[in-house]
Amino acid sequence: MSHQRTNGQKTIGVLTSGGDCAGLNAVIRAVVHRAIETYGWRVIGINDGTRGLMERPLRYEELGIKLFTGTILRLGGTILGTTNKGDPFAFPMEDGTKRDLSQDFIDGYHELGLDGLIAIGGDGSMAILNKLAKQGNFDLVMVPKTIDNDVPRTEYAVGFMTAVSTGVEALDRLQPTAASHDRVMILEVMGRDAGHIALNAGIGGGADVILIPEIPYNINQVAAKILALRDQGRTHALVVCSEACEPLGGEQVYQTGEGGQKRYGGIGHRLGEEIARATGAETRVTVLGHVQRGGTPSSHDRIIASAFGVRAVDLLAEGKPGHMVSWQHRQVVDVAIDDILGQSRSVDLNDTLVKTARGLGICLGD
Ligand code: F6P
Repeated sequence: MSHQRTNGQKTIGVLTSGGDCAGLNAVIRAVVHRAIETYGWRVIGINDGTRGLMERPLRYEELGIKLFTGTILRLGGTILGTTNKGDPFAFPMEDGTKRDLSQDFIDGYHELGLDGLIAIGGDGSMAILNKLAKQGNFDLVMVPKTIDNDVPRTEYAVGFMTAVSTGVEALDRLQPTAASHDRVMILEVMGRDAGHIALNAGIGGGADVILIPEIPYNINQVAAKILALRDQGRTHALVVCSEACEPLGGEQVYQTGEGGQKRYGGIGHRLGEEIARATGAETRVTVLGHVQRGGTPSSHDRIIASAFGVRAVDLLAEGKPGHMVSWQHRQVVDVAIDDILGQSRSVDLNDTLVKTARGLGICLGD
């Protein structure tokens, strides 16, 4: 519920939620510029995602134009801090129990006198914040971010293209050393249950094999591709695999984290052994891990982040809460959060990049 201040000045909050990625600060910067310069509002940055409003004393900082010395657009991480263990409906306590602290969050929101909240998060954060907004009757706008790029109805989430660039750069570095030593190099990338990072980085970095969770791989097909390259006179190969990919009839490699969530990692090493056995090639494995989340945002992410930040503030100004800003056909559009809740966007096997990969002769494991 928006309540206009008597002097007409609104105060909005902004927070980053879930795993970090590059480009979060670029969104925060855009929100502050738009809110202060266009509308004359105040902007409060909430620290450590939902925790800043759940804990007492409240943890927050006022964000002003003076804060922006020119560096923030380029900065990785998030100046506000974030958490992926901050579900107020089931908050993990020190004694191992879980408590519902949703009302503390809502009280915190009202104590700060906020007239709206912009939350930068992925699908998990969106579900939690949407529920909080309904329970607490406050205005919420979401900005999609995740290196996994699995948020529905947006072509890009903030952070994705930086992760892709990092994957491409890794392949640029792996190719010469692979060629020098006649090796098969396996690059394991993140992405959870979606293969977007592997598919995009693999195409951009000239991979010979790309394995994604959406297509269980047949090791014989992978080996056949590597042996065919050898027949053509190429004694090295580049393989990109998503952390959640799995062999046909086999299993993913993961550990079970807190709350039963799968923590992927390790399929690259299993694949390295399988390829070595099937082809006789010498293999080496690189697990890119959190390197994909940090670092300076790519130009693409800065642009998307800036456009999203501006539009998110406009949505609050136009009285259109309950929406996520989204990128579709080079336009920023608004998507109702209720329309996408509980959904995830994996790689569509008819996607143009799947066709591109096949057209380039890249083995997708099938
Ligand atoms: O969702 C983003 C992501 O980086 C995934 O690609 C990865 O599986 C996961 O987060 C890693 O999470 P954490 O930072 O908790 O290790």
